[in-house]
Amino acid sequence: MINFTDPDFVANPYPALKELRQHGKPVWHEELGIFLAARYNDANAVLRTKTLGRIFTPKEPESQWNEFNWLHSDSLLDSEPPKHTRLRSLVGKAFSRSRIEALRPEVERIANLLLDEAENKLSSKGNFDLIADYAEPLPVKVIAALLGFPDEDEHLLRPWSQSIVKMYEVSPSVEAQQEAQQAAHEFAEYVRALMHKRKAEPGTDLISELAVVEEAGEKLNAQELIATCVLLLNAGHEASVNGFGNGMVATFERPDQLELLRKNPRAVADTAIEEFLRFDAPLHLFERTATADTEIGGVLVKVGQKIASLLGSANRDETIFDRADELDLAREQNPHIGFGAGIHFCLGAPLSRIEMSASLPLLFERFPNIALAETPKRRPTFVLRGYESVMVS
Ligand code: HEM
Repeated sequence: MINFTDPDFVANPYPALKELRQHGKPVWHEELGIFLAARYNDANAVLRTKTLGRIFTPKEPESQWNEFNWLHSDSLLDSEPPKHTRLRSLVGKAFSRSRIEALRPEVERIANLLLDEAENKLSSKGNFDLIADYAEPLPVKVIAALLGFPDEDEHLLRPWSQSIVKMYEVSPSVEAQQEAQQAAHEFAEYVRALMHKRKAEPGTDLISELAVVEEAGEKLNAQELIATCVLLLNAGHEASVNGFGNGMVATFERPDQLELLRKNPRAVADTAIEEFLRFDAPLHLFERTATADTEIGGVLVKVGQKIASLLGSANRDETIFDRADELDLAREQNPHIGFGAGIHFCLGAPLSRIEMSASLPLLFERFPNIALAETPKRRPTFVLRGYESVMVS
């Protein structure tokens, strides 16, 4: 059975995921005590079935995991209806397609500023890091601006987020657990203080909007506000950074596809970003727990049992995608589930699509001859799949 922490598996999980799909049904992983749904139809059904819920299991002891626990149990992502419906409708308005589309000029402005800095680095030292200098700061700045998170503290976001999301990997180390506890504490207290500040001096940002709702006391309590803002700040950049990085490296490795982007980046951008998310998904595994006996792909998931939707595997399912193991930036039929499905479908998908479809052509227009300067360094994690750095010249 798959060992999710085996460095060889993490380096290239796709052959092992293909074998898993060949079982023809979800497979029980004895050691982890969970079913793995690797085929597209099964992974998709896991996300769409009402009796499979996102049920957060609090970590023990509570005294050490207090903030970490409620940052999850009170957030949108880890709630089920009716709480999920209430929280999603409160923040959903801020992420509507029209409101997000209006951010495009601002996204382009930020991307151009980052490209100016990258150009300076190119002339002074001959290379820059596509992750640290472009893919990461862009979504961090955009989500921070949307929530009204102060510019001068933006640098705190990625380290907090990184420490918290390491807990989503299979078998995190003791050190990772301590870092996550500390980060959860600091992040929660920071956002709590910010909420109080916005109540005293409201702005036009989302935290100010939610603080008004919290003050009214009916639809949102303080913990739910903090938990949901922390979720948005984390989810608002983590996968975007990795989705962009994974797709760019895959493209650098295929000269014909690189040429497509070089020649006409605007024409290919929309299909390219979907293919980035399909071909090497930034998020690979999401769990659900059965709230009633549920059949998925010919297997019975008994009440209380868990099943994982393997998004990156589903997106390589050869029965759904033509030439599934080939990167095709102009792919037309691409029903990937990189943004999930069902009630937890990614709230930030429209924002993330704008960020990527704006930043990709701007990068190629500025640096048409962009190329890898050294072998990119992968992060040693499976669930959140991405690169540490991607040096380009
Ligand atoms: C390439 C970028 C992104 C990818 C691949 C991605 C992927 C996903 C996936 C797969 C889920 C569903 C998880 C599940 O079903 O258990 C999700 C949920 C979510 N995402 Fe994203 N996401 C991205 C960017 C963003 C951005 C920019 C935001 C900013 C607001 C965001 C906010 C959220 C939120 C709030 C949820 C929870 C929705 C709910 O539970 O109703 N995501 N995302």
